[in-house]
Amino acid sequence: MREGHLDVEAIRADFPALARTVRNGNPLIYLDSGATSQKPVQVLDAERSFYEQHNGAAHRGAHLLSEEGTEIYEGARAKIAAFLGADAGEIVFTKSATEAVNLVAFALTSSVGPGDEILITEMEHHANLVPWQQLAQRTGATLRWFTVLPDGRLDVDPSLITERTKIVAVTGQSNVTGVIPPVAEIIRLAHEAGAPVLVDGAQSVPHHPVDVAALDADFLAFSGHKMLGPLGLGVLYGKRDRLEALPPFLTGGSMIEVVRMEETTFLPPPDRFEPGVPPAPQAAGLAAAIDYLSGLGMENVAAHEESLTAHALDALRELNGVRILGPDTTKDRGGAVAFEVDGVHPHDVGQVLDELGIAVRTGHHCAWPLHRALGVQASTRATFYVYNTHAEVDALAEGIRYAQRFFGARQ
Ligand SMILES: Cc1ncc(COP(=O)(O)O)c(C=O)c1O
Repeated sequence: MREGHLDVEAIRADFPALARTVRNGNPLIYLDSGATSQKPVQVLDAERSFYEQHNGAAHRGAHLLSEEGTEIYEGARAKIAAFLGADAGEIVFTKSATEAVNLVAFALTSSVGPGDEILITEMEHHANLVPWQQLAQRTGATLRWFTVLPDGRLDVDPSLITERTKIVAVTGQSNVTGVIPPVAEIIRLAHEAGAPVLVDGAQSVPHHPVDVAALDADFLAFSGHKMLGPLGLGVLYGKRDRLEALPPFLTGGSMIEVVRMEETTFLPPPDRFEPGVPPAPQAAGLAAAIDYLSGLGMENVAAHEESLTAHALDALRELNGVRILGPDTTKDRGGAVAFEVDGVHPHDVGQVLDELGIAVRTGHHCAWPLHRALGVQASTRATFYVYNTHAEVDALAEGIRYAQRFFGARQ
């Protein structure tokens, strides 16, 4: 069954979790990939094979298993670099996108002070907001932000970027409204003012082609688990000179040059930022995920999600008493569709959908200021990925209608 750009039936056969039934014996309709994606057998096999055949501590030990572990770990780094248009030395493995943002925010502590400004946006996930708030509090710098317009788009006010701006942090795609802000334009404006830009790629790297060189991003943070890879591994891309200018964040073994009781010198990046035994099995899994996505073609992935999103926007627009948060066209908008149902709390919507086997997310989705800006407490969110079908979008719309009837809400 081809759905436009992807052979979705063949893809679904690779994902064991999609074959299971859930509540009331219903087949699983997984519309929560924005939180974490399902994993194909290729990724599971890569991790299992690491543990079965190559389980030695990468970068440590003089034996064959350790050497193989190192090759797999460094091979994954090179693969991720190629996927993003970067050099391997510019790829730092972290625990998550959250840790990647924290790494940069902590490492900038001594470069920022009173009178300086940190510029973010009102549509950020808390992972790309709280670390900057904390940096401002630690250093006496001022936090500023681009606000969100009523349609969910970003109000890019160039006057907020000045010579006082020390760092700009912006999402590549909102995890709530799917809005894709004009990141390239923001980077250009920031660079004119001499400020580096960190892009939160947690919702963009899994879903669209991203080329850091073309984008000219200084830093890019994302998580493997939202792009078919294992949990527990994130990535920080940083331009070589930007990474070289940063002190370490977490310290310990493997990131040092010379250690004396009095002091320690540190390795150059990326090792400087990777203390401890490396998460090589997870890196093997992420490399397999990248092979999988590259095999599909990121352009095709994006096109498939766009067609599902267009379908969902049409279907939800048809429903009385349902309000879509953010733009209701797919222009500069990815596959996250959050909505409110008049008279039914999002948690109740989520519970009814769950009874039908439809997995969505409810609440503020770690983007509380954005919900406030859009005038809502909470919402229900469906997010799409390579394995979702148009029939599942119809089931979502039908499920919402059922929830409205169930709670006697206006339709
Ligand atoms: C836009 C965005 N940024 C950052 C994150 C944080 O990712 P993680 O929890 O994997 O660190 C998320 C997760 O939902 C996200 O959607």
